[in-house]
Amino acid sequence: MENKPKLLIIVGSVREGRFGPVVTSWFTEQAGAHGGFEVDVVDLAEIDIPLALPAASPKAPADEYPRPAGMAPLTSALASADAIVLVTPEYNHSYPASLKAAIDWHFTQWTAKPVAFVSYGGAAGGRHAVLHLENVLTELHAVTIRDGLAFPNYFLTWRDDRPTDPDAPGYAKVLLDQLSWWAHALRSARETTPYPA
Ligand SMILES: Cc1cc2nc3c(=O)[nH]c(=O)nc-3n(C[C@H](O)[C@H](O)[C@H](O)COP(=O)(O)O)c2cc1C
Repeated sequence: MENKPKLLIIVGSVREGRFGPVVTSWFTEQAGAHGGFEVDVVDLAEIDIPLALPAASPKAPADEYPRPAGMAPLTSALASADAIVLVTPEYNHSYPASLKAAIDWHFTQWTAKPVAFVSYGGAAGGRHAVLHLENVLTELHAVTIRDGLAFPNYFLTWRDDRPTDPDAPGYAKVLLDQLSWWAHALRSARETTPYPA
């Protein structure tokens, strides 16, 4: 049986009354229907993510970097992931502080992994957030996927917890196909040759 790549989907917003879980739930359904991944979801609202970082570098091996016990589900999910999808809203033309903190507590866990984006917001559909995330993730030696899924004015374009655009599942499939290609390619590369970071 094929050893499917592990896809980790992260709920990036932790705000009270947030819309993030609705988008995540729909996208997780699309990922399951795609069939190319073993899918896992981590909700940052359920993770202990302090803003104060330890003195050590997050590039240190995992057992030498003191993370809170409540962060373990995120750290282990990132470490074992072959592909990651960040579900992000747009806050002040960027992405939420919860997501930045989750990123900064890790380093090697992102290296040579493909990351795709599902964003939502007002007129720009969260694309300002995605542009910033692409920049940040390059610093961590992650590979960002070109075709993101963006939902502008989600408060008008979702009904009954689903996007009203009939093309949305097709767009999700394009993203997942590209992510699958990279997940296989980079897993194989990581297994064959240590990444020269
Ligand atoms: C602090 C804050 C700043 C925001 N800034 C923007 C923005 O710059 N652009 C935008 O499209 N929407 C912005 N919004 C609206 C969010 O896109 C909208 O509230 C969305 O529901 C947030 O995602 P969440 O519900 O998962 O937290 C902002 C919302 C908050 C709370």
